[in-house]
Amino acid sequence: MNQDQLKQAVAQAAVDHILPHLDSKSVIGVGTGSTANFFIDALAKHKAEFDGAVASSEATAARLKGHGIPVYDLNTVSELEFYIDGADESDAHLNLIKGGGAALTREKIVAAVAKTFICIADGSKLVSVLGAFPLPVEVIPMARSHVARQLVKLGGDPVYREGVLTDNGNIILDVHNLSIVNPPQLEAQINAIVGVVTNGLFAARPADLLLLGTAEGVQTLRR
Ligand code: 5RP
Repeated sequence: MNQDQLKQAVAQAAVDHILPHLDSKSVIGVGTGSTANFFIDALAKHKAEFDGAVASSEATAARLKGHGIPVYDLNTVSELEFYIDGADESDAHLNLIKGGGAALTREKIVAAVAKTFICIADGSKLVSVLGAFPLPVEVIPMARSHVARQLVKLGGDPVYREGVLTDNGNIILDVHNLSIVNPPQLEAQINAIVGVVTNGLFAARPADLLLLGTAEGVQTLRR
């Protein structure tokens, strides 16, 4: 199986997992990226079995709408049973690095609201220590240099993601060469820097379930 087939398999596994819990009032939180896109395509076959979705990015909203799935503003939704999204890295405790697609802030907001966060990823995303994937940090544009200097003090090498503006109009710094031994602590430290909107560590709110695509089949890891 190639990486796309593994992503497709976990996307289908996520649909199979949530379907028995859905009814005509259910609204589902949907993440961003290629694995989330496979999930949207698989979910669309069942669009008559739930109400609609909340999207973590403009790209995801467009894809959902393209399938005829209603997209709601998060502020109009009182309850989200599930949030389904990919990740750039996960450790065995389901702490994640996210934001390779620059959607980390909205992803973190939707994940915070959802009762159950199901992460879907191919097996290459499971690591023993987070940080080989550069940690994305969303930053207010005027604070770019200040935040970069503070990130260097924390031991990282921040690199400006050229030509990328988030859906919120901000820039991304990708922080290289971090070995993240205490994800909740680093998440809090980076978020405390003035000018940071949020960073791509999902440790204060990790995933609840990781569906991991491997050559042997879809493995389920729980927190
Ligand atoms: C977007 C994300 C994605 O979930 C992450 O980058 C994984 O993407 P893919 O499913 O394409 O491998 O955090 O901001």
